[in-house]
Amino acid sequence: MEVESLRGKSEKSPMEQPNSSDAARVLRNRRKWRTISFTVIGVLVFIILLVVILAFTAFKAKRPVTTIDDVSLRDLRFSVNLARLQVLLNATFHVNISITNPNKVGFKFKDSNAELSYRDQQVGEVPIPAGKISADQTVPMNLTLTLMADRLISDAKFFSDVMSGELPLSARTEIPGKVNVMNMFRIRVVSTSSCDFTVYLFNSSVGDQNCQYKTQF
Ligand SMILES: *[C@@H]1O[C@H](CO)[C@@H](O)[C@H](O)[C@H]1NC(C)=O
Ligand SMILES: *[C@@H]1O[C@H](CO)[C@@H](O)[C@H](O)[C@H]1NC(C)=O
Ligand SMILES: *[C@@H]1O[C@H](CO)[C@@H](O)[C@H](O)[C@H]1NC(C)=O
Ligand SMILES: *[C@@H]1O[C@H](CO)[C@@H](O)[C@H](O)[C@H]1NC(C)=O
Repeated sequence: MEVESLRGKSEKSPMEQPNSSDAARVLRNRRKWRTISFTVIGVLVFIILLVVILAFTAFKAKRPVTTIDDVSLRDLRFSVNLARLQVLLNATFHVNISITNPNKVGFKFKDSNAELSYRDQQVGEVPIPAGKISADQTVPMNLTLTLMADRLISDAKFFSDVMSGELPLSARTEIPGKVNVMNMFRIRVVSTSSCDFTVYLFNSSVGDQNCQYKTQF
C-alpha cells in the first residue's frame, strides 16, 4: 500500500514542474554544477590513485630486517644445592644484532627490548634504544643480556636441565618503527627476530643457533 502511494507521488512530480524558462535555467545550472563536481571528483580520484600506485610500486616500503648475528657466553657461574634441589646460576650473554634498512628512505624505530627466555618464561631483558637508520644502511649493536635465574630458583624443569648440563634458551627482539615514503606515508613496520640456542654448562659454550626473522606491516 505504502509503496504504491509513494510511486504515485514521484510519477506526479515531474508533471507538476512548470515549463517556464526560469525552470529551464535552473535545470541547466544544476547540470553545469553537476558536471563540474564530477570533474573535480574525477581529478581527485585520479590523483589519489596515482599516489597510491606510486606508493606501492616505485616507492614501496621494504622490510627492515633484524638479524641476531651471534650469541656468546661472557660469564657463567653456577652452583647446585642438592639438598634443597636448588640451582644458583648467573649467566651473561653477548648478543650481537644488526638491523638492515633496505629502503631508499630512512627507517626510524622506537625504544624496544631484547628479551631472553627459558621455556617461554622471560628471564632477562635489555633495552634497545630508539634510533634511525639511513637508506641502505646496516647498524650493528652489541647487547649484553643477563639471565636472572632467581625467577627459576624453584623450577623443577630448570633444575633437571642444569643437571643434564644443557639449558635451552631463546633471545628475541621486536623492533617497531616507521618508514617514511615520499614524506607522505608513514608505513609502520615491525621487525622481529628470535633465536633458539642451547647453553652447554659443562664446557661453557653456546650450541647451534636456530634463528627466525620476520617483518610485519
Ligand atoms: C650471582 O650473582 C649474585 C649477585 O651478583 C651473587 O651474590 C651470587 O653469589 C652469584 N651466584 C653465583 C653462583 O655465582
Ligand atoms: C661490536 O663488537 C664488534 C667486535 O668486537 C666491534 O667491531 C663493533 O664495533 C662493536 N659494535 C658496537 C656498536 O659496539
Ligand atoms: C659481539 O659483541 C662483543 C662486544 O659486546 C664483542 O666482543 C664480540 O666480538 C662481538 N661478536 C661479533 C661476532 O661481532
Ligand atoms: C660442549 O659440549 C657439548 C655436549 O655436551 C658439545 O656438543 C659441544 O660441541 C661442546 N662445545 C665445545 C666448544 O666444546
